[in-house]
Amino acid sequence: MSFRTLALLTVLALPTIAQAAERECAQSPGKVIEVCVFTRDGQALYAVSKGGKPVLAAAPMGLTFAGEAQARYTGITAAKRSASDTTWEQPWGEQRLIRDNHSELTVSLAGDTPLNKSVDVVFRLFDDGLGFRYAYAAIPADQAVAVTDDRTEFKPVGAYDAWWYEALGQERDEYLYKQTDARRITLAETPLTLRQNNGRETGGLHLSIHEAALVDFPSMLLAGDGAGTYKARLMPWADGTLARKTGAFATPWRTVLIGDSAGALADSRIELNLNEPSKIADTSWIKPGKYVGIWWEMHLQKSTWGSGPIHGATTQNAKRYIDFAAKYGFDGVLVEGWNKGWDGDWIANGDKFSFTEAYPDFDIKAITDYGKAKGVKLIGHNETAGAVPNYEAQLEDAMKLYESVGVSQVKTGYVRHSGTILDQDGQPQWFAGQYMVRHNLHVAEVAARHHISIDAHEPVKDTGLRRTWPNMLSREGARGQEFNAWGDPTNPPEHTVILPFTRMLAGPMDFTPGIMDVVHGKTELTRRGQSTIAVQLALYVVLYSPIHMAADLPENYEARPDAFQFIRDVPTDWETSKTLQGQVGDYIVVARQPRGGKDWFLGALTDEQPRKLNQKLDFLATGKRYEAQIYRDGPWADFRTNPGALTVEKKIVTAKDSLDLDMAAGGGAAVRFKILD
Ligand code: NOJ
Ligand code: CA
Repeated sequence: MSFRTLALLTVLALPTIAQAAERECAQSPGKVIEVCVFTRDGQALYAVSKGGKPVLAAAPMGLTFAGEAQARYTGITAAKRSASDTTWEQPWGEQRLIRDNHSELTVSLAGDTPLNKSVDVVFRLFDDGLGFRYAYAAIPADQAVAVTDDRTEFKPVGAYDAWWYEALGQERDEYLYKQTDARRITLAETPLTLRQNNGRETGGLHLSIHEAALVDFPSMLLAGDGAGTYKARLMPWADGTLARKTGAFATPWRTVLIGDSAGALADSRIELNLNEPSKIADTSWIKPGKYVGIWWEMHLQKSTWGSGPIHGATTQNAKRYIDFAAKYGFDGVLVEGWNKGWDGDWIANGDKFSFTEAYPDFDIKAITDYGKAKGVKLIGHNETAGAVPNYEAQLEDAMKLYESVGVSQVKTGYVRHSGTILDQDGQPQWFAGQYMVRHNLHVAEVAARHHISIDAHEPVKDTGLRRTWPNMLSREGARGQEFNAWGDPTNPPEHTVILPFTRMLAGPMDFTPGIMDVVHGKTELTRRGQSTIAVQLALYVVLYSPIHMAADLPENYEARPDAFQFIRDVPTDWETSKTLQGQVGDYIVVARQPRGGKDWFLGALTDEQPRKLNQKLDFLATGKRYEAQIYRDGPWADFRTNPGALTVEKKIVTAKDSLDLDMAAGGGAAVRFKILD
């Protein structure tokens, strides 16, 4: 069935406006999830159940504004219901066609303050969770308001474990997750993943609390009260206000994914469905792909970002990487340290960065011309060190220059301690407060005008905005591979089996997998990569990103042609994706089918425990034979003692078979299923 036919089959129920009751409830299309809204003791409350069992107990909603007391909500004045079942197509993604099947309930609340006199809460209910947002439609167009509190709370019923790290730490979102009783959460970043305490044994509930469509509003954190309630805490402006708005506005969606397994969270598409359709009409210039770059060599201190005798970004070195990319089929070469401003303490002196002037030993025109002849694009790099006004002042000129030489992708960066970004008035800003949320989108908009896609590091967290701005290709926003070069400690094996069920629920991550020499001359385990080589391959499948780097040095790939073959073969754009098995922090098995292709790819990872998993291959097409090209941990492989041991073997399989995934400690497996008939 074509996409067009699917769209025609769309069922759009007409909205119905009912007489307001004291309590309004609505169910998801399959009657799985139910929300009820009511007012009590001056509070507007919502409660959520799944299959008739309470999941979130009654918890407050609403905003408080400067110059007003906290509103008392006295009742529901109107309720409106509708339903929609549509399917839309992503220009690129983990899944080409996305079904958006939801019911909607809008309740109008009456409050006793001028700004809260009438507020709508819009709920969208899906069978795997919900989103809700506040719409303050009655605020006059020219009236400036300041939000001073987001009253939203989440009250999961029962005992939960949580994977989280302390929010607002100086390294932003680059922390290792800890697993604790959820009641020990002090202040957590979202997406926040919770699992019912007995979840493992009984298949109990998994929840993920996050937000969608974070536009012109501060990013939401969750503050725990020690007793299992999590309250929205928004990253403030320097004067303590949270959001500055003028006229009518709606907040981002507050979202809760509700699943019976960890995999159900990973396979939910609520995040995308709650974002607006693309604002970019022609998306044909936005290209997923694989890249290499002058990058890991700086992180290993073999070359420098700044000028000098071992400057990495030279014309000659860039050409060497272009040759390598062309030879092995990569689309782009990222070059960091090409522009003036890196000398000295660049983190302290971010306002010295030029985004148009190259160091004299880097000839941008010669390099891009050389790349064009070989079919390889230069990927730009804009490290701002958090000096946002300096970047914004040059943004238009910079993007114009890059477009003129055929650069179509730029990696940005905001290396600066959380909360110390200075705005044009010298006021400190959080890395994901309203100011940076605006900046983030501004960069994407300017870039889009110049047909440039963005890969943001140290970013505002992802909230599904790639649907609206498909040139927001990927971002960092977690501890990536770079920590395996210089981290103290580096990422332990469980990090990459936590990410798929936490950070990745927000959207794609530019993790930069593919390190062949994980030891890189280090003697201490916690100062080098803590994985086997099979893991480095599996990450291309497990961690979704439309752009993936092959992060290691060219010579390290040429030394491992066995493993490198998988990196050359694996695509980054998918027809469909399925999480086949998984437990947060323990293991995961993911299968993805290339967009427009018939093959399948599989990635499996374990934590520090060796693990044997049997995987049914029933996702393959029935009646077809496939050559399974298996890259698995070799004899005596172990992330501690023998990370490089890899066995590559081939087998003929069908959908009726199953595969034993025998993973070493800190190991994994990567498989390409190549269709034969
Ligand atoms: C941090 C980024 O995550 C990394 O990829 C980059 O190389 C450095 N900043 C320098 O910009
Ligand atoms: Ca980083």
